[in-house]
Amino acid sequence: MDHEPSQQPNTHKLHLLPFLFPITIQKEVKYALCFLLLLLSSFVIFNLVTPIDSQFIFGIGFFSQILPNNQKTSLEGCDYSNGRWVWDESYSLESYTENCQFLDPGFRCSRNGRKDGDYRKWRWQPEGCDLPRFNASDLLERSRNGRIVFAGDSIGRNQWESLLCMLAQAVSNQSRIYEVYGSPITKHKGFLSMRFHDYNLTVEYYRAPFLVFLGRPSENSSDQIQKTIRVDELHGYSKKWIGANVFVFNAGHWWNEDKTVKM
Ligand SMILES: *[C@@H]1O[C@H](CO)[C@@H](O)[C@H](O)[C@H]1NC(C)=O
Ligand SMILES: *[C@@H]1O[C@H](CO)[C@@H](O)[C@H](O)[C@H]1NC(C)=O
Ligand SMILES: *[C@@H]1O[C@H](CO)[C@@H](O)[C@H](O)[C@H]1NC(C)=O
Ligand SMILES: *[C@@H]1O[C@H](CO)[C@@H](O)[C@H](O)[C@H]1NC(C)=O
Repeated sequence: MDHEPSQQPNTHKLHLLPFLFPITIQKEVKYALCFLLLLLSSFVIFNLVTPIDSQFIFGIGFFSQILPNNQKTSLEGCDYSNGRWVWDESYSLESYTENCQFLDPGFRCSRNGRKDGDYRKWRWQPEGCDLPRFNASDLLERSRNGRIVFAGDSIGRNQWESLLCMLAQAVSNQSRIYEVYGSPITKHKGFLSMRFHDYNLTVEYYRAPFLVFLGRPSENSSDQIQKTIRVDELHGYSKKWIGANVFVFNAGHWWNEDKTVKM
């Protein structure tokens, strides 16, 4: 039930090649590069404007997990992104169900016909340290008075729903998790802010597939042009992202020819 136009499976290689052979860089790749630069510089600016209390950032979520024995924590330089997927039979499949009230019907894989379930037994193994097993009550406790913000396309929405459902396992009274503005969660466009009342924690999602401003075509542009992506201006929602303790964003598969040049 992805609301987004279907993705052509062969669009990725169009973009890899220009990176390898810069002489033939395509227009849309230039836009993507501009966008990345903008994103990086906005991080720098954000850090300058709002000095972040690193104790607080690392005090939220699993970043502050103290690992047993002599294993390194992220603060000591374990790079969680460097690792591999390992098959782990000890993973209980019961930890994932589709009964969670926050799951969009279209995101319920098995109910929509997916037969296999073994993919849930893959576990990420970082090089040089272990990731702690997910513990909902522990994460809720350490995320008290915090804001975890997701922004981007429906992949980000999937991740947001997954986190809500994983955290909800530790809340016995489900009516103590609610949308702050009373918006319905299904087929909702725009943004949603789910509040875990007992922890004063919000887990928010902002739909902004390009992360940047998407507006009307510029004056006198041809009739074929329906929208303009302004790579030098963040999406209007970005004002609401300020103050988040954890910010998770993605826009990856929107920056291809089908969704930019052709649309
Ligand atoms: C999860 O964390 C809580 C609070 O830190 C702890 O009491 C509990 O034993 C943990 N559960 C598991 C399965 O590790
Ligand atoms: C709830 O958390 C917010 C930060 O997200 C904080 O400003 C506020 O003071 C907290 N409220 C309480 C009652 O602790
Ligand atoms: C669950 O929480 C709601 C809202 O706070 C409350 O009205 C209700 O009585 C609670 N239910 C139970 C069984 O505690
Ligand atoms: C659009 O076209 C009009 C009429 O030809 C012209 O006066 C105007 O300057 C153009 N605007 C831009 C932004 O090029």
